[in-house]
Amino acid sequence: MSVTVRVPAKVNVQLAVGAARPDGFHDLANVFLAVGLYDEVTVTPAAELRVTCEGPDAGQVPLDRTNLAARAAIALAGRRGIEPNVHVHIAKDIPVAGGMAGGSADGAAALLACDTLWGTGASREELLEICAELGSDVPFSLVGGAALGVGRGERLTALEVGGTFHWVFAMAGRGLSTPAVFREFDRLAEGREIPEPVASADLLAALAKGDADALAATVSNDLQPAALSLFPELADTLAAGREAGAPAALVSGSGPTTAFLARDAGAAEKVAEALRVSGTCGAVRVAAGPVAGATVL
Ligand code: C5P
Repeated sequence: MSVTVRVPAKVNVQLAVGAARPDGFHDLANVFLAVGLYDEVTVTPAAELRVTCEGPDAGQVPLDRTNLAARAAIALAGRRGIEPNVHVHIAKDIPVAGGMAGGSADGAAALLACDTLWGTGASREELLEICAELGSDVPFSLVGGAALGVGRGERLTALEVGGTFHWVFAMAGRGLSTPAVFREFDRLAEGREIPEPVASADLLAALAKGDADALAATVSNDLQPAALSLFPELADTLAAGREAGAPAALVSGSGPTTAFLARDAGAAEKVAEALRVSGTCGAVRVAAGPVAGATVL
């Protein structure tokens, strides 16, 4: 018997970052939108914990106990006093180290899959608590849709969204480490007063209306200068998308995936085609959101 969970990627339509806290984390106002690029995580009883991965980027995924999917199984089993003896298989379509919460998605998916497989009957609250222990973005991968995350980004409030937003995602030739991007943010922020992070009221209104132009005018990412500083070529990708008519172009989360908002599905295909021939990026994907979070298939 095995259980498969499908889990989406995310894009941050707003990522407001405060000053570094004493614990090294940063307070955030993080507006997440789940988009239709998916990993599928399957858990099957096994003699011992084992992780395998398939997909174009599978070679970059760690298969040891640092993998968030493995850590999720260990965390849930630990709470129940059982052994985490499962084979976790990840069918990976979300870019690795891309700023789209691919690792977090696998953590949330493995947690839900193990809970179902083992019949542990964890409540939603307990699952969210374990997710928050695993990482700042993991709770959102479980709930999906759209949400405002505060604190490290793990304390979520669901947001109303009045329509579907069409996005284009351009993968980069290499990954960026999230801690390295936050460190660069701190370096660039040295000597400056960093305001408290707050969600933009105009952005939340644009989401609620489902208005792509209004959303395009309000998207923002405070990590973008840090990502560009570590990966300057991303500026060429952003420019290529803007030239192709995307009303908004931004780095997704800590990057290096770049995200382009389009007015509709047809416009998204045009931007995607222009990016593919621009020579400024790797694979280009189209995806719409919001979509549901981790779901047992
Ligand atoms: O929570 P998570 O393990 O995903 O965070 C990865 C890294 O990103 C942290 O170790 C930290 O360097 C940085 N981070 C941060 N502030 C946050 C979230 C993450 O500085 N709110």
